[in-house]
Amino acid sequence: MNNIFIRLPYNSIGQKEFKLFKALLAKNSGIDIPAEKAYLFETRLAKMMADVGLDSFAEFYKYIQSGADPLAVQKIINAMTTNETLWFRDAAPWKIMEDILLPKLIGALLSGRKSRIRIWCAAVSTGQEAYSTAMCIDDYLTKNAVSGVTLSDFDIVATDISTRVLDIAKKGRYDAISIQRGLSDYYRVKYFTKNGSAWHLDPSIRDTVKFSAFNLDNDFNHFGTFDIIFCRYVLIYFSQALKKEIISNIYGSLADDGILFLGNYTLYDLLEDNYKLNMYKDFSYYTKKAVIL
Ligand SMILES: C[S@@+](CC[C@H](N)C(=O)[O-])C[C@H]1O[C@@H](n2cnc3c(N)ncnc32)[C@H](O)[C@@H]1O
Repeated sequence: MNNIFIRLPYNSIGQKEFKLFKALLAKNSGIDIPAEKAYLFETRLAKMMADVGLDSFAEFYKYIQSGADPLAVQKIINAMTTNETLWFRDAAPWKIMEDILLPKLIGALLSGRKSRIRIWCAAVSTGQEAYSTAMCIDDYLTKNAVSGVTLSDFDIVATDISTRVLDIAKKGRYDAISIQRGLSDYYRVKYFTKNGSAWHLDPSIRDTVKFSAFNLDNDFNHFGTFDIIFCRYVLIYFSQALKKEIISNIYGSLADDGILFLGNYTLYDLLEDNYKLNMYKDFSYYTKKAVIL
């Protein structure tokens, strides 16, 4: 009988090395790994350690510090980030876009009040959030036979700290499992073509989204202001202080009548007096205080 139990090549991380790796990751990504999740270093860095022929975290740390691999820190970030995502995740942002935001934003474009609409997906992972947005807009424009506005009037900027997920996102190609997660038959048929075992996104949608690597712990003033910002399912990985700082920086990047989607959890304690929580049906979104939409 075959032995179905495979011994995984995990090396355990001691307290001293845990502190070193925790600090390294926090400094370079803001990601805060609590002590009870120390095993994440063991499971997620096992392959990288094996690739360089090391089996102790102390040696591995020395190797990283030696500068032998200039991409070592980026590789650690790529391995340590949690990149879970799906199409139209939570549905809410796109329902709000269709029912409230797009009619207003299209009106603003047509009246000349806005020359472009700018949207930022601030931790986009493998692209689903940004592409869901582009498909939603394109579909809205065609379904409502909107004339005088096209998808090219929208800038969709998509960033993430992991270069691994961005490489996947840029291609706009998805395997049989990821294509199914949250995507309706309607959108799949309208915007994807099957090619072998992969699903290819229509280039008109793919090329609308501009991807780049960006760490939310850095200054983002230079991105300009946005009409819609998605910052979903990423703040949970940061310390309270960093969450607060990012939420406050986002305020500066949000147009006066802009919308912030934070995911399906609330951050009342962090939003202080600056933001207003708005409800549409059961869905939440944030605006700057004193803005009535
Ligand atoms: C769980 S995914 C969420 C993806 C998407 N926003 C969604 O809701 O489906 C979190 C993403 O945040 C990214 N991330 C983690 N730390 C980051 C940082 N400091 N700056 C930018 N992105 C970060 C990860 O690489 C990962 O792809």
